[in-house]
Parts: sequence; C-alpha cells; structure tokens
Amino acid sequence: MKKDKDFIDGLLGRMTLSEKIGQLNLVTPGGETLTGTVVNTDVAAKIRMGRIGGIFGVKSAEAVRVFQDLAQETRLKIPLMFAEDVIHGQKTIFPLPLALAASWDMNLVRATARVAAQEAASIGIDQVYSPMVDVCRDPRWGRIAESPGEDPFLASRFAEAMVEGYQGDDLSRPDAVMACLKHFCGYGGGMGGRDYDAVDLSPATLHDVVLPPFVAGMRAGAGSIMASFNTLNGMPMHANRAVITELFREKLSYDGLVVADYTGILELIAHGVASDRAEAARLGLLAGVDLDMVSETYLETLEDSVKAGLVSEAEITAACHRVLIAKLKLGLFDDPYHRLDWGRAAQPILTAANRQLAREAVAAATVLLKNDDDLLPLPPPDSGKIGTIALIGPFVEDRVNMNGTWAVAGSPSTVVPIADGLREAAGNAVSIVTAKGANIVDEPWLATRLNVHDWKDLSVVIDVRSPEAMIAEAVATATAADVTVAVVGEAREYSGESSSRTDLSIPESQKKLLRALKATGKPLIVVVMTGRPLALAEEALLADALLIAWFGGTEIGHGLADVLFGRSEPSGRLPATFPYSVGQVPVTYAHRPTGRPTPGRFQKFTSGYVDLPDEVTQNNGLYPFGFGLGYGKVAYGPPRADRTKLTGDDRLEVTLTVTNLGDRPTNETVQLYISDPVASISRPVKELKAFRKVALAARAAETVSFSVTTADLDFSVAETVTDTRRRAEGGAFDIHVGPNSRDTQAVRVVWNEPQSEGKRS
Ligand code: NOJ
Repeated sequence: MKKDKDFIDGLLGRMTLSEKIGQLNLVTPGGETLTGTVVNTDVAAKIRMGRIGGIFGVKSAEAVRVFQDLAQETRLKIPLMFAEDVIHGQKTIFPLPLALAASWDMNLVRATARVAAQEAASIGIDQVYSPMVDVCRDPRWGRIAESPGEDPFLASRFAEAMVEGYQGDDLSRPDAVMACLKHFCGYGGGMGGRDYDAVDLSPATLHDVVLPPFVAGMRAGAGSIMASFNTLNGMPMHANRAVITELFREKLSYDGLVVADYTGILELIAHGVASDRAEAARLGLLAGVDLDMVSETYLETLEDSVKAGLVSEAEITAACHRVLIAKLKLGLFDDPYHRLDWGRAAQPILTAANRQLAREAVAAATVLLKNDDDLLPLPPPDSGKIGTIALIGPFVEDRVNMNGTWAVAGSPSTVVPIADGLREAAGNAVSIVTAKGANIVDEPWLATRLNVHDWKDLSVVIDVRSPEAMIAEAVATATAADVTVAVVGEAREYSGESSSRTDLSIPESQKKLLRALKATGKPLIVVVMTGRPLALAEEALLADALLIAWFGGTEIGHGLADVLFGRSEPSGRLPATFPYSVGQVPVTYAHRPTGRPTPGRFQKFTSGYVDLPDEVTQNNGLYPFGFGLGYGKVAYGPPRADRTKLTGDDRLEVTLTVTNLGDRPTNETVQLYISDPVASISRPVKELKAFRKVALAARAAETVSFSVTTADLDFSVAETVTDTRRRAEGGAFDIHVGPNSRDTQAVRVVWNEPQSEGKRS
C-alpha cells in the first residue's frame, strides 16, 4: 500500500528530538568546495547516526545508491533526499536561463525542464535547485545569467513552465523532480549590482515586481523554495519570519519546503543579527527555514536550545514534518531507489532527442539585434553564392565556455564547438577558415580569476602569440574570405555567482579585433557570447549583423550554424534591456514617469543623461526590453479594442493584425503592455501583460487577439510586507501592442469600477 500522510504522522510520533533535527540537516557529500568555502565532513558516519536528511551535489548513480544504503541502516530507515544544482540542463545543457527566457516560448522552456528532470532523476536526484526566478534590472549582477530577466510577467510565465517541466503532474513518478524557486527573495536588487549585497525596496515593489514569479511558481505546484543570501530592508532573508512565514506561508498559503542557501544560516552572524551559531540556528528555524544547508548549525545547537527553553520542539517538529512530506510526495517512502532503477532502464541522458531540443533552443533563444541589407541568413552552402567564411574569435573552437557559468554536470567534451557546427553545415560547398584573433582578455590577473573553476580545461587561455600577431592573422583570414563571422564576448565566469562587473563592455582585446575586422571592408557578422545584457554601442556600429547567442550549451555549434545559414530563424527577444552604457543601470522599460518626463531624446531640464547620443532612448537602453528581429519583415496593424468603455469585471478583447511582408516564414512575438496614465500613485509607464509567439508563413497575415481583465489593471497598495491589498482604480488605460516595449501603438479605453478582489497577491 502506498504510504500516506497518516504514515508520516505515525513516523513523526516515533522520532526522537535528535532524529527530527537530523532531518533538517542538508549537506554536501564532503571533501570538495562546491559554492562556498565551508564543506561538510564525516558524511557517511552522520547518515548512519540519522543526522542527515538530505544531500546535494552527489554526482553519480553509484554514489547516490551508496548514501541511500547507509540511510537504510538507520533505526527508522528514513530515506535521504538528493538535490542538485540543475540550472539549465543536467547533461544535455540548454542555453542559459536568461537565454531560455529570451525565447519567450514557454512550451520550449517546459520541454527543456522536462529533459533536465529526466536526466537528473536517472542518477537518483529528487530535487533541483531551479528555477531561479529573481527579477533583475541591474546587469552588473552576474547572476542575471541564471534569471529570467527584468520583467515580473515574463518571469512568472517562466517560473510556471519550469516547475511544470520539472515536476510533471505527479511528483512521485520516478522521472519527476521537485522544483525549488530561488532565491527568496529580492536577491536580484543588490546594491551596486554586487552579489550578496543589501536590498532595499518598498513593500509595493516587493509585491508587484519581486514576488509575482514566486507566487506563479508556487501556484504551479513548486515543492520548495530557497531563501536568499541578501538582507531585505535590513533583515537577512534567512531570518526573515515576516516574509517567509507570515507572508508566504500564512498569507499566500505556501505549504512546501523552505531550504537555506549555502551556509545562509551561519551567515546570520556575519550579517550582524546573531551573535553565535545557536542564535543563528534559532533565528533561521523561527523564520521558517526548514533545511539548514551546509552550516550544520541546526544539528549542533537546536537540541540544547530546546533544553534551554529558547526554541520549542513544536517548531522543529513542524519543519521535520515538511521535510518528511516532501519525501513522501517524491515517492521515497514507497521506494527510495525508484528513480535510480527507472534511470538504469530508461537511459535518458544525452539522447538524440535531447540534443535536438537543445539545438532548437539555440535558435529560439538567439536574438538578432541588427541585420543591415539582410546580410543574414547567409546563402545556403550549396547555393554557390559564397566560397569562404572567415570564422574568427576566441570562442570559435571553444568547448569550455559554451555551457555558461553554471552547468555542474555538463561536460565540455559533449559540446559541439561553433567551428565544428559550421563546418558540418558547410560541407564541401563552403570553406570555413578560422583564427583566434584575440584573447578573451589580455590581463593575466583577470584570466586567473575567470579560470577559478577550471581544473582541467581553462576557459581563458592567454595565447603565446602577441595580440598584434593574432589580429594580423585574423585580418589576413578575413581579407581572403567573402564574409566574416566574429564570435566575441564574455568568458563564462564573467557572469554567475559573485561575478559582478563594473563595466558592461566586451573586453578591449576583442574590441580591437572587431575594429580591425571592420577595416577589412568585408561584411561583418558579430555573434556575442554573454551571460548578461552588455553595452554594445560600438559593436552595433561596427557590425553589419549583430546576434546575441548568450551561452548556448551542448548544441551551440549546430544551433548557431542553423541560424547563420537560415535553417532556423533567430527568434529570441530581449528579456532584459541592453543599456547604452553601464551608467544607465539599473534600467527597465517599466520605470515610473518623472515630473519631467524625457521627450525621448535629451532635453535640458528633463530626466535623462546629458552624455547619451540622441538616438538612444534616455530612460531605456540601446536595445529595449522585448526587442529582436527575425528573418521576416513584420508589419503591425493598429490595435482594435472590442469596446472602449468597460465596467466592473468586464473583459476587453484587443485584436491586431500582423503581416509578414517577407518571402520567408518568420516567428513574431507580439507583446501587449498596459499603462495607467492617471492613478492614485504614479504607475510604471508600461507593464507587460501578455505576449504570443506566432508563426507567420511568407507574405501571410495573422489576427492576434488578447483578453484583458481587471487582474491586468490592479497594483499593490502596501503599508508593510504583510499588510497589502491589491487595488484596481477606474479611469483611462492605454493598451499598447508592438514588437517590443518601445515601438508600440496604443488604444485607449475607459474602465469604470474595475473589480480587484481575489486577485494574485
Ligand atoms: C549557492 C547559490 O546561491 C544557490 O543558487 C545554490 O543552489 C546553492 N549555492 C547550492 O549550490
């Protein structure tokens, strides 16, 4: 008979205090530094003593089995739960999360998470520390690479799709894994874009910008969340009872597990809210953090704290109950080995189908920012129109950087390098001639930092040749070719955890290369590898065509070749603004108006920057949120509203026609934004409320309809984080539609007495 909640109650009744505390202890397998400097020791012995509830970072099915066997030797045989940082794929690595968000294709996102779940489950992983749903408007922050970008609506859809993909509709299935929404919360808004830094934001912004993806992920059924490293308005999140327990659990009805981040409980001492380990543990537990990751403060101190009357056993029992329920949902009490056994039979890792999905994801995530004279796509290789392509840059033969900042189980050896992908696509018809052209960076000290995780293959190798010699070779290669494809950008470790930047440029070594390539006079296609929005003002001038390829993962070579030769279309749209320069950040299209709104270009005594050129939108960036070109030419008809006067809980239908004027099929992402020109508080100038990615045949027109309800109009009125209401106010609203957040057309409606009760938090 399947174990149920009564079984858990019975089990809990038989547990000693020490056994309950053991369930709250989450460790690494020991012996290596994962993402922090503290590691766990004596793991096997602790498991045998019932002092460990979960392990993360176990790398093989064999090791999972060994640890699970040890747990089965304990008095109560409570199974261990295995977790891993599966961020954008387990072995088949997909484009970065920021890139997947750029696809604006939630079926694709869901499918990638499904594949990741199957690959991870097959080696016995039960829980993945993903998706990361921190909204981020400051690309200096390296972890924007792991996030869905700047917009809460897009991030919410991303959160749902990832959770659905990981968990399926039944977490007890052997190929389902538990999702973990992270980092809860506010982590994307650290001071100065610095990782782990303090976050100050108003309760209303917390509710309207930061929380929606967590709420959406929770409603999609996410089984766990992870507390974030930052303080929020002065209170470290690992001690933040108001936000974790009072708001998320009690008010918003979250009933899953809360996991600490790596040594997050211990760090309460460094944050200055706990004087010792016991106090840190007490604060963490009271805040509602169930599992203490790595620091073992719960394990060491909670029993004494109960004896001293500082912590009640009931709090420990409640946290332990949540851990046991998570294991129950995962089917671990029925069979602790069921994922392993399924995996051995199914062998789902790096299958042809998985690779095919990764290949398609590259095109879907790649964003075309510029395409003068329709330089792209290149003519098909067998057309005879092109003889030689110069493929230049430090990434063209690279495998190590392609998986991006964080793919713990992804192996460079399985990556298809860009040069291989192009050569395969070109066959004998077109010759692909390569040159490195530049170091990723020239500075040895920087290379050392960027190679921090590389024990075998380095991601940044400074060439023995001089920069001048490399550029000379690249120029000669380009001069002899018909067209140049330059692949430039960031090293993978330029983004990710604790990799914030003060500069958002492509490194100078590679800029010099681009300038030299431009001077050859050959058509120049620039492909940018990056984990964040970059400031590409100069590259936008130098390039005839400009593609953002992010870090595309295992199938980057094939996927990029598909894009360049037009077998697929780059159909990504920016999930975050690309600023003109670092001085523009933090930046978002959804800013509030000022009393001196900018007329678009600089004007004295209006809000903006005196040193921005006129063609750059003052409050936004060089390339706005939602921007991206396709290989078609799409014309937008004006939006039509089915009525312009609405009341109460009416529903508005907005329709428009999009027409592909081009001779090839294209994908267009139609976006709908709303603004509320007069309200009781100043509202953002536009907010994304809907989007649809539509496939348009050559020369075809398509009618696209969106429904707008009062849920799209309301906003939070918040006195404190827990004392919040949503309010919809009557009056005029502008409904904007367009291909991105800047180039929209609007229709005005008047909505009287819109109803806002029962809306999302
Ligand atoms: C720290 C990171 O912030 C978090 O995202 C990750 O899941 C844990 N370390 C575990 O590696």
